[in-house]
Amino acid sequence: MEITINLLPEEKRKRLELEGDLPFGRIFTDHMFYMLYQKEKGWHSAQIKPYEPICLDPAAVVFHYSQTIFEGLKAYYGVDGKIRLFRPDRNMARMNRSARRMCMPEIDEEFVLKALKKLVDIEKAWIPKEKGSALYIRPLMMGTEAFLGVKPSGEYIFFIILSPVGAYYREGFNPIKIYVTDKYVRAAPGGVGDVKTGGNYAASLAASEEAMKLGYTQVLWLDAVERRYVEEVGTMNIFFYFEDELVTPSLTGTILPGITRESVIQMAKDWGINVTERRITIDEVIEGARTGRLKECFGTGTAAVISPVGWLAYKGEEYVIAGGKTGPLARRLFDELTGIQYGEKPDPYGWIQFVP
Ligand code: COI
Repeated sequence: MEITINLLPEEKRKRLELEGDLPFGRIFTDHMFYMLYQKEKGWHSAQIKPYEPICLDPAAVVFHYSQTIFEGLKAYYGVDGKIRLFRPDRNMARMNRSARRMCMPEIDEEFVLKALKKLVDIEKAWIPKEKGSALYIRPLMMGTEAFLGVKPSGEYIFFIILSPVGAYYREGFNPIKIYVTDKYVRAAPGGVGDVKTGGNYAASLAASEEAMKLGYTQVLWLDAVERRYVEEVGTMNIFFYFEDELVTPSLTGTILPGITRESVIQMAKDWGINVTERRITIDEVIEGARTGRLKECFGTGTAAVISPVGWLAYKGEEYVIAGGKTGPLARRLFDELTGIQYGEKPDPYGWIQFVP
């Protein structure tokens, strides 16, 4: 498929707003990638065009039944002036995995990655140069057919938009405070907890709002069946570093298979750390925090990068981890990962792809 390119004249482009602390996901670049799907035609009308609102029928499936999936990745401005993407092939593969679960059409991964690189190249002036900032890339697919019956849509829109961003949490790389909820659950076995679909995030809002009112940044979810096993944070996967083991919950179908999670597991194993993916109870975590056996806790995600957790609240008690400071393992992982992403360190795993 050819990509039609229709760019705004220079004088109509927005003024770059890349100074100071960038908020997360509030500024958008001048152009977007866009393509359409119809059952009879497959994907068609691929184009890079000015960023603009999308007009949909009020009966569009996505509004009523949330048939939508998305991805999140970043383009980094390297210390050598080269533009890097971190494992974008993994995002493409995960998008198709999500599409299958949500009865949506698969994308041609190679074609979409090519389109994504083209768009980033066109918008490269929007990539912030400061380390810690990046151009966040948000691919999204939604069902747009207009009907009220519950069945998969026969029509879809796929788009990619770009947003220059700074740190996701206002704390930056400083430790955050996490609230463990046993009142709400995020995902049940057999559901869509391991799918990057909008509904998972909508369903998490009430718990996040309550946690924020109590002074916590995010919620740590427990499993839906016993409310005992730790799952994930919703915007990131979670790791616990005990004296002799780095533990992260295993992918049981209710946890998002994070690409940063996967990368951290690989790096830590290569450093000789005993990494295990297993079920871990909240009691084991609290016991570890109480006795000091739990040395560090941190979250991983594209938006969050490596985010140390300094405080955990559970059943009315607050537990301090690593003295509320960033621990050495979180620091080392952050330095290594961002070092690879910004081209300061070699990329021994072949994780980087360049733009153009
Ligand atoms: C990401 O880390 O890219 C995410 O998609 C999480 C969040 C911003 C929703």
